[in-house]
Amino acid sequence: MKLLAGKFALITGASQGLGRELALTYAREGVRGLALVARSKDLLQSLASEIYRIRPNLNVAIINADLGSSVEVERVAAVTLAACEGRLDILVNNASTIGPVPMPYLLDYPADDFHQVLNVNLIAPFLLIQNLLAAMIDHGGSIINVTSDAGRVGYPGWGAYGISKFGLEGLSQTWAAELAKTDVRINWIDPGNMNTAMHREAEPDEDPTAWSDPAAVTDIFVFLASDSGQHVRGERLEAQSKWRARLQKG
Ligand SMILES: NC(=O)c1ccc[n+]([C@@H]2O[C@H](COP(=O)([O-])OP(=O)(O)OC[C@H]3O[C@@H](n4cnc5c(N)ncnc54)[C@H](OP(=O)(O)O)[C@@H]3O)[C@@H](O)[C@H]2O)c1
Repeated sequence: MKLLAGKFALITGASQGLGRELALTYAREGVRGLALVARSKDLLQSLASEIYRIRPNLNVAIINADLGSSVEVERVAAVTLAACEGRLDILVNNASTIGPVPMPYLLDYPADDFHQVLNVNLIAPFLLIQNLLAAMIDHGGSIINVTSDAGRVGYPGWGAYGISKFGLEGLSQTWAAELAKTDVRINWIDPGNMNTAMHREAEPDEDPTAWSDPAAVTDIFVFLASDSGQHVRGERLEAQSKWRARLQKG
């Protein structure tokens, strides 16, 4: 039996990097359907072709949207609800933008960029949870927000990105407390350093081969989305730590 058999998942930021790997992994793990969100239509379509090679009959909804717009976020929720026939099991808030690069100090940070980063990285996850909770509440589900160590430490230059992740961690804690008596669990994962477009853009002088392949960190996202992770809720987890020994029962 596949770990995610029968489940429907929405993954934001699925066009590349971690989100793309999660989509492929969830398809291999037997999901009954996927809703995949990003701005790049071509990249999403090529991902869907790759998924159909693994699972020819999988229900895949490609949702081309800019999560910086609240109206677009509400459309994403509506299209997802139609695609999953009103029953969503897994929501992964993965999409993020780093903001302007080279990354300016706060003193020079353009206000429009600051708003945009918060809209994509913080307001969109808030609205998606708010709009999709009703589709999870009766049968239970797993919400996973993707955070960063920049959401715990105020690194110089990481500006609105880091601040958005501080906000996402607070948002996750508050949702977790408010959902404590329900079967919907929420956890937030710091995937650690990964060799992705965003990280290469943020730190162009570093050696990206020293960072993990995103495919190497997907196992914790499968575990938390699956029924094996049902007992884990309200936790901040690090994908590149020894999480398995701490979280697995028995
Ligand atoms: N890479 C790391 O070392 C690292 C470390 C800690 C945490 N993280 C977190 O891991 C997650 C994945 O990041 P990644 O490294 O895989 O980055 P990535 O490869 O740059 O992917 C980011 C994804 O977000 C989507 N996205 C960006 N802006 C969007 C918008 N306005 N509307 C809709 N989608 C948007 C992008 O798609 P489009 O451009 O097609 O819209 C893309 O699919 C993020 O939450 C990031 O903060 C990464």
